Amino acid sequence: SAPTISAPECLFHPMDFPQKILMGPGPSNAPPRVLGASALPLLGHLHPEFTQIMDEVKQGIQYAFQTQNEWTFAISGTGHAAMEAAVANLLETGEVALVCENGIWGQRFADMVERNGCVAQKLTLPMGQVFSLQQIEEGLKTHKPVMMFITHGESSGGTAQPLEGIGALCRKYNCLLVVDSVAAMGGVPLFMDKQEIDCLYSGSQKVLGAPPGTAPISFSQRARKKVETRSSKVRSYYFDANELANYWGCDAGPRRYHHTGPISSIYALREGLARLAEVGLAESWANHKECSEQLHQGVEQLGLSLLVKDKAVRNPCVTPIMVPQGVAWKDVADYAMKNYRVEISGGLGELAGKVWRIGVMGYNCTPDKIRLVLRAFSEGLVNCGYKPPK
Ligand code: GLV
Repeated sequence: SAPTISAPECLFHPMDFPQKILMGPGPSNAPPRVLGASALPLLGHLHPEFTQIMDEVKQGIQYAFQTQNEWTFAISGTGHAAMEAAVANLLETGEVALVCENGIWGQRFADMVERNGCVAQKLTLPMGQVFSLQQIEEGLKTHKPVMMFITHGESSGGTAQPLEGIGALCRKYNCLLVVDSVAAMGGVPLFMDKQEIDCLYSGSQKVLGAPPGTAPISFSQRARKKVETRSSKVRSYYFDANELANYWGCDAGPRRYHHTGPISSIYALREGLARLAEVGLAESWANHKECSEQLHQGVEQLGLSLLVKDKAVRNPCVTPIMVPQGVAWKDVADYAMKNYRVEISGGLGELAGKVWRIGVMGYNCTPDKIRLVLRAFSEGLVNCGYKPPK
């Protein structure tokens, strides 16, 4: 019989959208070479030319993470998918994870731990603050977890958690260390092997400037051993690291069909990683520091204050700015969008309505983009009734 629901009229017109400057917490704008790569012809997900590209992605992630881990690959999904993968692979039912929560990422990780039938013990700090080694050691001693989670680049609270010494503590208490660096990797120094991180993940759409949809991840030998010696199957088929490692050519092979790799997204990720390699990690870290300081100075000159007071722990990639009394944050963001096509975001969780968030990442990490966002922001403020100090 004939279809009774007719084809939607909207699909007969081309998509229509403006070019925007994405200065929120991500996605950030993708450079033309990345967008160009994602428009290349498709290959099959097990074709040798494609598995060669996967090998290049793997090496690019090893560089970006500063790791020699064999189990290094990209999850087919956003950073949340990598978070799910960390939980699904590294915990068995009933096990205890210590979750450091100073923003929404700790909250989400704890939620995933519980959904997997495990126990999330929390160490909690207000957004905008970071954990000390002493607090972490107390938590490890008290809760005796098999895994600890901490967020390196908090995009909701705007902090960059110092990682030095945490890996050693986790080893002392025989626990795996999982680090979320979705909103910091490439913009903040990060050394997976030296910092003794057991599972590290990031996302494609932040500093790497690739479309959302792939998430670099890596597992240390200790983490790998945990996955390989589990008494139960990994609860997720899609995120099973044993299968993914095989598909990514991280074992003796041959590669098996596990799922259909997101071909175009992997091309884009490859180009995002290539760009980071060409810029160089040290240079990229320095650029993010400089551009974020330019932003911070500009904001402070407007008489506004930043959520994170301690300069040493500010995440250069995402800056939360306190909304002053009497100003409607959304009106300012709408002004910037309407007049400059510049995205400025609002707060998440308990900071919703209380902060703006401006992102400085990858391709958008340039002095001229900072000037542009400051101009759009300051004009928007004045337009919404704010009176900057003389
Ligand atoms: C996403 O990472 C966000 O912080 O909004």
